[in-house]
Amino acid sequence: MLRLGVNIDHVATVRNARGSAYPDPVRAAKLAEEAGADGITAHLREDRRHIEDADIDGLMEALTVPLNFEMAATDEMLAIALRHKPHAVCIVPEKREERTTEGGLEVAREENKLAHFIAPLREVGCRVSIFIAADQAQIEAANRIGAQVIELHTGAYCDFHAEGRFDERDAELARLTEMATFAHSLGLEVHAGHGLTYETVTPIAALPEVMELNIGHFLIGESIFLGLEPAIKEMRRIMDEARA
Ligand code: PXP
Repeated sequence: MLRLGVNIDHVATVRNARGSAYPDPVRAAKLAEEAGADGITAHLREDRRHIEDADIDGLMEALTVPLNFEMAATDEMLAIALRHKPHAVCIVPEKREERTTEGGLEVAREENKLAHFIAPLREVGCRVSIFIAADQAQIEAANRIGAQVIELHTGAYCDFHAEGRFDERDAELARLTEMATFAHSLGLEVHAGHGLTYETVTPIAALPEVMELNIGHFLIGESIFLGLEPAIKEMRRIMDEARA
């Protein structure tokens, strides 16, 4: 079955825009659970621009589905993850000046450092996922350092679609398809996400090796018009249809 992880970061973005106590990302996460989310994803960024430390405390306490904790490979984040021991940790690259996570992690050049970084996470039982581009060298490196999961970055595929650059979109989709098969052949669990919408999700959901999609920004935006539960249910419906 293809799992849907709902990323609730941008509920916190709206909250933080006014420095208010609402809207509460933990409340959104509970609603997402009720709407059929198989997991909740939250990215505690170094600059706390959306999710804050107290949100992670609240999610760990309130959730009945697994939390996928996205974080940069820093000592501060490692300490937080080791304290909470979430079901999964997804290591992402992070630059303060970027609007969102723009590229995949550079694993191949940082192999030793990352191998040491993820070892304690694995020891406490977290499933370790690495967010990477559809690139064979990066996937091989992720496998060598002992990650159990890779999440393929679908941002470029979605951007090409939005810009009407369909040849480039299709070429990126072909790379994602090939690399999902390659990663699976190494024994890695394959996830995918970033920038997915109702329009772009179908070919990604149809990839048989992909076990989980993590989707946030579009769903939170769409919930303004439809409500959070219907927005999530519609995504679930399209994913299930693509898989069938
Ligand atoms: N997967 C990862 C690793 C991410 O960093 C993000 C964005 O935080 C997502 C999925 C979700 O992307 P989006 O919010 O564009 O759906």
